[in-house]
Amino acid sequence: MNLKLPKDSPLLADDFLFGVATSSFQIEGAAESRLKCIWDTFCEQPGKIRDGSNGLVACDHLDRWPEDVALMKDMGVDAYRLSLSWPRIIREDGSPNEAGLDVYRRLLDGLAGAGIRAFVTLYHWDLPQHLEDAGGWLRRDTSKRFTDYADIASRALGDRVHSWATLNEPWCAAHLGYGMGIHAPGLSGTQYGIKAAHHLLLAHGLAMPVLADNCPNALNGIVLNFSPCHPAGPEPEHARAARMADDLYNQWYARPVLCGEYPEVMEHLAADERPDIEAGDMATISHPIDFLGVNYYTRTVYRHGGERGFEPVPPQGPHLTDMGWEVYPQGLEELLVDLDSRYELPPILVTENGIALPDERVDGIVNDPRRGQYIQQHLDAVDAAARAGVDLRGYFHWSLMDNFEWAEGYTKRFGLVHVDFDTQERTLKDSAKAWRAFLQGRR
Ligand code: FCB
Repeated sequence: MNLKLPKDSPLLADDFLFGVATSSFQIEGAAESRLKCIWDTFCEQPGKIRDGSNGLVACDHLDRWPEDVALMKDMGVDAYRLSLSWPRIIREDGSPNEAGLDVYRRLLDGLAGAGIRAFVTLYHWDLPQHLEDAGGWLRRDTSKRFTDYADIASRALGDRVHSWATLNEPWCAAHLGYGMGIHAPGLSGTQYGIKAAHHLLLAHGLAMPVLADNCPNALNGIVLNFSPCHPAGPEPEHARAARMADDLYNQWYARPVLCGEYPEVMEHLAADERPDIEAGDMATISHPIDFLGVNYYTRTVYRHGGERGFEPVPPQGPHLTDMGWEVYPQGLEELLVDLDSRYELPPILVTENGIALPDERVDGIVNDPRRGQYIQQHLDAVDAAARAGVDLRGYFHWSLMDNFEWAEGYTKRFGLVHVDFDTQERTLKDSAKAWRAFLQGRR
């Protein structure tokens, strides 16, 4: 396995960053030293997590971070994208938990010592349970509470952070968590998803000036997930279906952030499905950002049908990942070029991209050629988009290591590093070795 880029690739510029990504709930463990979050509660409900597992120990990262940082240093990454656990940092009365902040101070110092830049996300879905009990993201006040948390975290840790992202994938938090009920907190109802999305976007917009004030030299922005929507056939009704899905799932987040308005599809929503927009909200949400993080895994095909006029066609064919997602690297190039043509974009970072495979460790080796191929194909797609003029500044692979994959528990392995969840032993997969050789041979 060998990863490479042409010598003249824009991705080989000195300031293009290569990194790996994780999130707090998925790796940290050490649940006893923080407040409960919505994912703890969700995991306690029978049938919600495929293997009945939880995040109480996960990768035991908070005890083992020196080893994990050493692995990243060994791989030669420029940057590490992690998230903070809100319930570890903020007490129920809103005051800072210094012990929780200290955990991150040490970790961020460890990263600095290893020469790795910290890209920190404030919210990767682990809402404190007491805030959910008060209404969660369906309640406008949660946006304000998020801003207070962003203020405390960025004052305490700002000098150690290269880049802040307010939110990771508000679509997942809102739509999967409140709209479909397959993520925490497990509510279902389209109107809930849309209302939660508005309060998440508002939280982002309210936090941006706080980050800009506290950390004027950091790159401050947001991470959104995108899946290009393709029609199932040439008929116009499929094209309409794909456009509607794209507006509701992709542009629904990008357009408010970048242009201060929801896509036109909002006019077609029933009155009780629309977000509760107050005067000034859209201006707040569209506060300028220093970067847009783009997460990409796959495309989605839609056909006309279903209650809303569009329904996804289940992926088929030989190129499915362990998640059942189609490997479709050209979708990443298409997406980046399309975003660039629709919007005045800030610099772009690909903040997640990766593949779940049924990896096995045999005699100390994890042979995962399909991951190497996936990375190569997606690097090529980023290279092509950069050559087409998109202002790309980095690529983060999801994930540093196998971890708690939300509703799939520990059954899906996305890591470059294999984790044995019985012993917590870490093993570089072959893809990690190829990634290391690529990163070390770059300059
Ligand atoms: C993204 C999430 C991340 C991980 C990957 C596979 O949607 O941001 O936490 O679960 O998918």
